[in-house]
Amino acid sequence: MLYSDNLSISPENHLLIGSHDAVALAREFGTPLYVLDEDTMRRNCRKYRDLLRENYPGQSLALFASKALCTLHTARITAEEGLGADAVSGGEIYTLHAAGFPMEKVFFHGNNKTLEEIALAMDCGTGYFVVDNAEELRRVNAAARARNKVQPILFRVKPGIDCHTHEYIKTGQIDSKFGVALETGEAFEIHKTAAALPNVRVEGVHCHIGSQIFEIDPFCEAVRRVMALIASLRDSLGMEARILNLGGGIGIRYGTQDDPPPLADYICQVTAAIQEEARRLGLSLPLLVLEPGRAIVGPAGVTLYTVGSVKNIPGVRTYVAVDGGMTDNPRYILYGARHPALVANRAGDPPVRAVTIAGKCCESGDLIAEGMPLQAVQPGDILAVLVTGAYNYSMASNYNRLPRPAMIALREDEKKLIVRRESYEDIIRNDIL
Ligand SMILES: Cc1ncc(COP(=O)(O)O)c(C=O)c1O
Repeated sequence: MLYSDNLSISPENHLLIGSHDAVALAREFGTPLYVLDEDTMRRNCRKYRDLLRENYPGQSLALFASKALCTLHTARITAEEGLGADAVSGGEIYTLHAAGFPMEKVFFHGNNKTLEEIALAMDCGTGYFVVDNAEELRRVNAAARARNKVQPILFRVKPGIDCHTHEYIKTGQIDSKFGVALETGEAFEIHKTAAALPNVRVEGVHCHIGSQIFEIDPFCEAVRRVMALIASLRDSLGMEARILNLGGGIGIRYGTQDDPPPLADYICQVTAAIQEEARRLGLSLPLLVLEPGRAIVGPAGVTLYTVGSVKNIPGVRTYVAVDGGMTDNPRYILYGARHPALVANRAGDPPVRAVTIAGKCCESGDLIAEGMPLQAVQPGDILAVLVTGAYNYSMASNYNRLPRPAMIALREDEKKLIVRRESYEDIIRNDIL
């Protein structure tokens, strides 16, 4: 085993992803190339499903957070594995619908859904709207009225929890653009407003406290606070919020610096907290919804690049430049995220020095990693950056008019192109002269 259990080294000293030689994949499909190990993604979907079933006596549903990786193919995998989906934009709703996803299992998020997005999601039969604020509540009610229907909704509540993760991916504290605050009474008030509206029906409460979180306690604290809200909605408004959606956010291991808890511990402790609170407050067990993104697809991804130049600046650092960069993986420049990397055609060799992996964009900050221990490397080598399944393709851009890479999906004895490499014609497709 190399880094995770789907990676190993071939007799030719090449990186193997599942049973596939990464160097041969780079040759066949070109670079940069996103590689999705579909078997790993499916295994992670099943793990969530099974752990929920084993640990929670009530009903449960895991949703795949589409924002982590949204393509027609991943939508199909998600549906086939029996998960629902979280979508956060018209584009994600459109993709899920186009993939034939069961839209009644979709939760539509977002802090500023436009009128067009609300209309699209409703016309596609989206199961639940996770409403962010009072203006949106008014808009959703009006859109439902225009369609002569009652739309099931949940409110996104910020439970006042400041967890330990990067500032940009914290969302549970009061100073957040997402949702309505619990401690100010705003959350209670908006439920009261909704109770009087004829075209929405409150089905539950949602919270998402942040992403890449390594402690389980903040999730359990969120359970206690949100269950208290559910009890007060019952007591004061006679409202039955039967769904508890706890969002996603459990952290994964990107490298030796990370020590996430086992998924089983997270699910076991969170479900225990729900059962305890339900008993204490005299509530029936809610339908538990979790929305993992990173934990499902992060470890399933590898990005392959071709090394273009190796620039050694004596006494300063060595830059290894690849044919992609911040355009296909902006996570280092956004959050300082550390992805492991290795030379795929020399995968079993020991690292010889720490290098900086640079992209090809016209920005000094266009880096994928700094201080990365790497094997001997030279132009033409294939560099593999690991754990890139989540928030890489979905955050990609065309900066410097770079075409976005292709993506392939691997199964044991199958490889399939699932996203075509962009061409220069794609780059100018929407330009008008
Ligand atoms: C509402 C919501 N749910 C789920 C997720 C998925 O989070 P993660 O990928 O950390 O599991 C996010 C991520 O930002 C989110 O905003």
